[in-house]
Amino acid sequence: MIFHMPMHSNPVLQRTSLAVWRAWRTLKLRLHSSVAGASSGPGSLDRSEELSVAPNKNPPHTPVMLKEVLHYLDVQPAQVVLDMTFGGGGHTGAILNAVPEATVLALDRDPTAISLAQQLAKEHSGRVKPLLGRFSELETLLSGMDIKPGSIDAVLLDAGCSSMQMDQAERGFALSKDGPLDMRMDGERYPDMPCAADVVNTLDQQALASILTAYGEERHARKIASAIVEARRVNPITRTQQLASVVAGSFPPAVIYARKDRLHRPAHVATKTFQALRIFVNDELNELHSGLCAARSALKPGGRLCVITFHSLEDRLVKRFLKGEDLSNLDQYHFIPRKQSTRKEKWAGEEKHVRSSYWIPLEKKVITPEKDDVQENARGRSAKLRAVLRR
Ligand SMILES: C[S@@+](CC[C@H](N)C(=O)[O-])C[C@H]1O[C@@H](n2cnc3c(N)ncnc32)[C@H](O)[C@@H]1O
Repeated sequence: MIFHMPMHSNPVLQRTSLAVWRAWRTLKLRLHSSVAGASSGPGSLDRSEELSVAPNKNPPHTPVMLKEVLHYLDVQPAQVVLDMTFGGGGHTGAILNAVPEATVLALDRDPTAISLAQQLAKEHSGRVKPLLGRFSELETLLSGMDIKPGSIDAVLLDAGCSSMQMDQAERGFALSKDGPLDMRMDGERYPDMPCAADVVNTLDQQALASILTAYGEERHARKIASAIVEARRVNPITRTQQLASVVAGSFPPAVIYARKDRLHRPAHVATKTFQALRIFVNDELNELHSGLCAARSALKPGGRLCVITFHSLEDRLVKRFLKGEDLSNLDQYHFIPRKQSTRKEKWAGEEKHVRSSYWIPLEKKVITPEKDDVQENARGRSAKLRAVLRR
């Protein structure tokens, strides 16, 4: 995983960022020397992985805002679509059915998702090309297939985790299901990539608190980080429900479900901790930025891009990218302080003057799911879709 060291003018932030960076480097070195085995790298998938997914009649993931995605991508016969987040193949499947001659390049970093893409490829011979890799590896994958920049007609990026990942206890994403504290979207592809258990058992308290603040927007980050450090002195934290109880233990019982999630349902007090760890382990914000850059270079003029996000950290990044801001120095996304109104106002002021030379919005405002859609698929309720045309 690439870890970009954050640089801040605020000395307090700079200190916390440095602490995280040093701890991260230590963690990487320690793991690197202790774990044997090479990465399988982008594009490759061994035969055992290919055979590991049983055919499933039920869709493993209900695609979010499907009608809207089909409308804004507006795929025409014989066009080439890049689905950057194949997942359970819900969006890809619908595109294949709606536009019989279209072909889909199906990317995902999760080998389980790529196994599904391979099954779909068999059912639609020649129309699905599975690509195992991360957004940050996409340009290499495309050039390996001799696909030139500026040649793709439509791109979809449906960020975050799939239901398949969330619902499988052994992947370690869900606090409601007991499993190993893993959270790596890549599965076992990169054996030396730290998992969530490595993070909670190795980083120092300040680094943990910074991660919870930055990626979970957690107000009680210091309290939770201190509880984690106390608990791991007794036993390493290796299970999802063990972590959930450690976090819950630092709050009075009455408040454990007192918070509400974005959908106004009672949320466990460790929800934000889980979100923060997942984003950190998978380097999700840097990946998202790489994905947007790769989409920009892959699309032909007049090509369409749809991006679906599920929380404000992602949506803020996408919004600014599509407005044409240069986000190549992404450090600010690692440690955005909760209250930074002056800087936010400054950003807002700057945005007014920015007009993207790359994108034409297809809608002025962000697109959100319709009521019916939400009733059928509660997970999609916090979704935001941004649809643009490449100049
Ligand atoms: C929300 S799901 C996509 C669901 C899909 N649209 C469907 O209808 O089934 C997101 C998928 O993107 C993948 N993903 C997330 N970040 C990625 C990255 N940086 N590179 C490649 N795939 C990524 C995840 O592994 C997951 O399978």
